[in-house]
Parts: sequence; structure tokens; C-alpha cells
Amino acid sequence: MKLLEGKTAIITGASRGIGKGIAEVFAKHGANVAFTYSSSATAAAELEESLAAYGVKAKGYQSDAANYEQAQKLADDVVAEFGSIDILINNAGITKDNLLMRITEEDFDKVIEVNLKSVFNMTKAVQRTMLKQRNGSIINMSSVVGVKGNAGQTNYAASKAGILGFTKSVALELGSRNIRCNAIAPGFIETEMTAKLDEKTVQGWREGIPLKRGGTPEDVANACLFLASDMSAYVTGQTLNVDGGMLT
Ligand SMILES: NC(=O)c1ccc[n+]([C@@H]2O[C@H](COP(=O)([O-])OP(=O)(O)OC[C@H]3O[C@@H](n4cnc5c(N)ncnc54)[C@H](OP(=O)(O)O)[C@@H]3O)[C@@H](O)[C@H]2O)c1
Repeated sequence: MKLLEGKTAIITGASRGIGKGIAEVFAKHGANVAFTYSSSATAAAELEESLAAYGVKAKGYQSDAANYEQAQKLADDVVAEFGSIDILINNAGITKDNLLMRITEEDFDKVIEVNLKSVFNMTKAVQRTMLKQRNGSIINMSSVVGVKGNAGQTNYAASKAGILGFTKSVALELGSRNIRCNAIAPGFIETEMTAKLDEKTVQGWREGIPLKRGGTPEDVANACLFLASDMSAYVTGQTLNVDGGMLT
């Protein structure tokens, strides 16, 4: 059964990692996919092609999620080219880890802009269309680090915790218009973002997770599929941890 037949989804940051996994699962389930990237133009063109093979409309846009005007333009372009926006996945994110003692003001601001302000930018940009449709599902990619905190990631944790407050507030504000807003808090998902980490540390993490493995982009994508589809029609304002039991 295809759960997203005929729906249009915007997914930010889908040229690789979790975003790419979401784009693939959504296309398999019949969604038309408009996705963004920051600089990976070749990867984006390849993804466009592989998504189109599922018989859906797919297009990649180079668009900086941290930039307010670019977010507005993206939403306008998607409405013009796809006709609707039913699902928004705010997935684009970066890390610039350092101890508080060493973190620069620039690295703090950059992470807040790309991870948190982007969620505001994109939600504002799609709001009018979703209000007109009286329908929409917004899914924001937080992190277990936003729920629990993490030494060496004050900037990242602040951005991901900020997303949780924003998510709950949007759910309360737009619920009466049938627009739902939920967050996902992935644990340790093995992507390029985590490939930079030391293998010994990573193995220690895997052993500490109740399910004894890192997650895959598909694990997160399947949770997004539930929250994007009508299967979750009565779920809003929630944070779903996709972490193999890490925070339990
Ligand atoms: N991996 C994990 O363990 C984990 C855990 C918890 C939460 N998360 C969150 O899940 C999300 C995806 O993580 P990931 O591991 O898949 O990351 P990733 O592999 O580093 O991919 C990041 C994606 O975001 C795009 N991007 C970066 N800055 C952008 C910007 N300013 N505007 C638009 N797109 C931008 C990148 O595009 P380019 O390819 O063009 O650079 C890429 O497509 C992030 O929000 C991350 O914080 C990840």
C-alpha cells in the first residue's frame, strides 16, 4: 500500500544521509518530492533521476535553508511547479562541535542559523499554502542531543532543543487548521555526518545502544513516513525518538 500517493513533500538537505533516505522512502510511497541541497549538485542530479524511476515528480533545488528569502522563493517555486505542499521535512543540519571554552561566536551562530532558523524560515514559507489547503504535516529533525544535551555540542544541542519548542508551538497554533507538526529525535544514525567520528568511539556507542547497532537513514525515514501520512492523522506536537532505545 502506498501511503503518500499524490502528495507533495519538500525535504531540506536531501543530497545525502537521512534526507536522501527520506526522499527515497517517500518516492517509493508515491510522493512527489522537491528537495534541497547546499552544494552537492551532482549528488542532487543523481537523486532526481533515481526518485523519478518510481514514477513520481522529483526535483532538487540549491537553496540555503538558513536564508529567509531563499526559503520563501523555494516554497513559491514548489507551488508553481508541483501545485501543492502537503508535507515539509525540515532536515537540513550541520555540526560545528567544540567545548564551550573553545567555541567561537561564529560557530555558535552558524549552527543556530542552519539548524534552527531554517525551521522558522521554511515553516513560515509553507504556512500560507498549508492554511489554504487546510491540510499539512510538518516534521522537524531534532536529535537526542536536543532532548538530553551533550558535552562538546552546546551550539548543536541548543539548536535541536529550540526545534522542540518551536514544534510544539506550531502544533498548538495551527492544529485548528488541520496542520500537524511533530519532531523526530534520531539517536546515532550512521551517515557522512557521523563518519567523521573516531571508529573506536563509534563502536563504544553501538555497544551502549539497547538495540546494539547504529540506526540507518531508512529507520528515520520510516518514522517520517508515519508522521507524514494519514496514519498519524491524530498525532501532533510530539517528539518521536528514533534511537534504538538510547535514551530509555
Ligand atoms: N546522523 C545522525 O546521527 C543524526 C542524529 C540526530 C539528528 N541528526 C539530524 O538529521 C539531519 C540530517 O543529518 P545527516 O546525518 O543526514 O547529515 P549529512 O549527511 O551531513 O547531510 C546534511 C544534508 O543537509 C544539507 N545542508 C547542509 N547545510 C544546508 C543548508 N544551509 N541549506 C540546505 N541544505 C543544507 C546537505 O547538503 P550538501 O550535501 O549540499 O552539503 C546535506 O544534504 C540533521 O538535521 C542532523 O542534525 C542526525
